[in-house]
Amino acid sequence: MASLLSFMLWGLTGVLAIHSFSVDIMVSSENEKDEETSFIMGEVNLCSNVANNVFLPYVGNCSKYYLCMYGQATEHPCGAIDSTHLLRFDARTQSCTDDEDIKCLPECKSSVLSSFCYDRTCSKYVLCYNNQAVLRQCQDGLQYNAETDRCDFPQFVDCVDNLCSPVNNPNDITYIPSKAQCDKYYVCVNAIPHSQLCAGGLQFNPKCNCCDFPSNAECTITALQRNIKPYSRAPPRRADITCPEKGVHFFAHQTRKDAYYYCLDGQGLTLDCTPGLLYDSNVHECREPKNIKF
Ligand SMILES: *[C@@H]1O[C@H](CO)[C@@H](O)[C@H](O)[C@H]1NC(C)=O
Repeated sequence: MASLLSFMLWGLTGVLAIHSFSVDIMVSSENEKDEETSFIMGEVNLCSNVANNVFLPYVGNCSKYYLCMYGQATEHPCGAIDSTHLLRFDARTQSCTDDEDIKCLPECKSSVLSSFCYDRTCSKYVLCYNNQAVLRQCQDGLQYNAETDRCDFPQFVDCVDNLCSPVNNPNDITYIPSKAQCDKYYVCVNAIPHSQLCAGGLQFNPKCNCCDFPSNAECTITALQRNIKPYSRAPPRRADITCPEKGVHFFAHQTRKDAYYYCLDGQGLTLDCTPGLLYDSNVHECREPKNIKF
């Protein structure tokens, strides 16, 4: 309790210090910290926009997972083969296994800024900096793009993992239109989307779950060419503000609307939004200007 109180006081002094810059800022209100994982979830709800019965990985421990039900996450341990050998959770197969080459979430074990997808949600990701994992959430249907380390328009990511329920029903096969390509669609098998292409210039039509003439499919995807350097492959840019000494904070940039500051325990970086997005200090993320109430 004492540490929580001192933490809150630190947060308060941080607010006062930054307000003297007269910058429009917002301190993330909660920094809930899991002692075991040092994984900060902040205000992100793990299971929002995730189908029922989907299992999500646990950041920092491969032998645990979450079950999502009606937007609520419950934590579960994987079983063990014996006292020294724990099974490990694989988000791809949605099961605990003793398979050696499972895909476990990466760990935040570097001082360099990087990020990785929080498997199966499409919109959530883990931001890593100075060995600290912070869960982040893209807004309004934007998706996390692992190639650029930030939230992006779905046509540049085309993630549909969150729409595949692991419960197979042969009488009700789940077809999902691609978000990137009119002639592409996905079929869910055991919670994994498998991509398919329509032949002969046909396009996927969600009304019949079939390949159809473009005039019937009425697909309106437009893709643009871009050139964005991922944070992890670009030199870090120090924030030109004084960061609060403790905790995780996101602040609006002093002069740019399409950038923001990420402060972790006194260290600050400047992060850019994907072109076309602006930073919204109410949700601490970049989003389309039409969704921001200035
Ligand atoms: C990970 O979780 C399992 C299951 O709850 C637990 O037995 C194990 O001690 C944890 N490992 C670490 C490194 O915390």
